[in-house]
Amino acid sequence: MADQEKKLSLVQAQLGPMANFIYIIADPVTREAAVVDPAWDVDRIINYVQTKGYRLDKILITHYHQDHLGGNLMGQNIQGAAEMVSRVKAKVYVNRNEAEGVKRVSGLSDSDLVKVDAGDVFRVGRLEIKFIHTPGHTPGSQCFLVEGNLISGDTLFVNSCGRVDLPGSDPEQMYYSLNHILRNLDDSTVVYPGHAYAPESSTTIGEQKRHNMYMRFNNLDDFLMAMGYGR
Ligand SMILES: [Fe+2]
Repeated sequence: MADQEKKLSLVQAQLGPMANFIYIIADPVTREAAVVDPAWDVDRIINYVQTKGYRLDKILITHYHQDHLGGNLMGQNIQGAAEMVSRVKAKVYVNRNEAEGVKRVSGLSDSDLVKVDAGDVFRVGRLEIKFIHTPGHTPGSQCFLVEGNLISGDTLFVNSCGRVDLPGSDPEQMYYSLNHILRNLDDSTVVYPGHAYAPESSTTIGEQKRHNMYMRFNNLDDFLMAMGYGR
């Protein structure tokens, strides 16, 4: 199919020393675009967007950790969403439960943010992006579903899942996010994770239901036991 006839352009790029994936979601016809978790190298992201002739009007944040959002991490200042909003006219879309953490970590203010809820849908050109609230790694972790593709942040990785031993983490919520919310997506949904932690850079929900042990639990107690939180 010719590029201008395609509905979605989805670009995955690995940036920074922590194997983060950032994503650019664009409508190749209207040239409107959104960027997901723009940390580590804002120049490179903006250069790419400008080279493609895209108009960046949304910054989507999966969760408030500095390697995704930008901010100060153990003395290192990581570029991210705050730098981006100083250079492009775009709002930062965060889950309502994550807003305070996002402001604290990034220095962004309420006027920079659009606070979203589970199930909200926003448009980028002709594309519909559905926001899926998947708490567990952090209280307001969210995934983005667009045209059968799921950008899954630090909730679901290829054959693993995000940490649940960090401040704000909740292993019980992670169980429900993986085994109830994301398990209910269509098996053909292509999953794009927040880190390159596996040889494959993407997978599908069907593959993960078969091979990811964290998505194969039928009850909470077994999941908590496997995560080291037996009771
Ligand atoms: Fe994280």
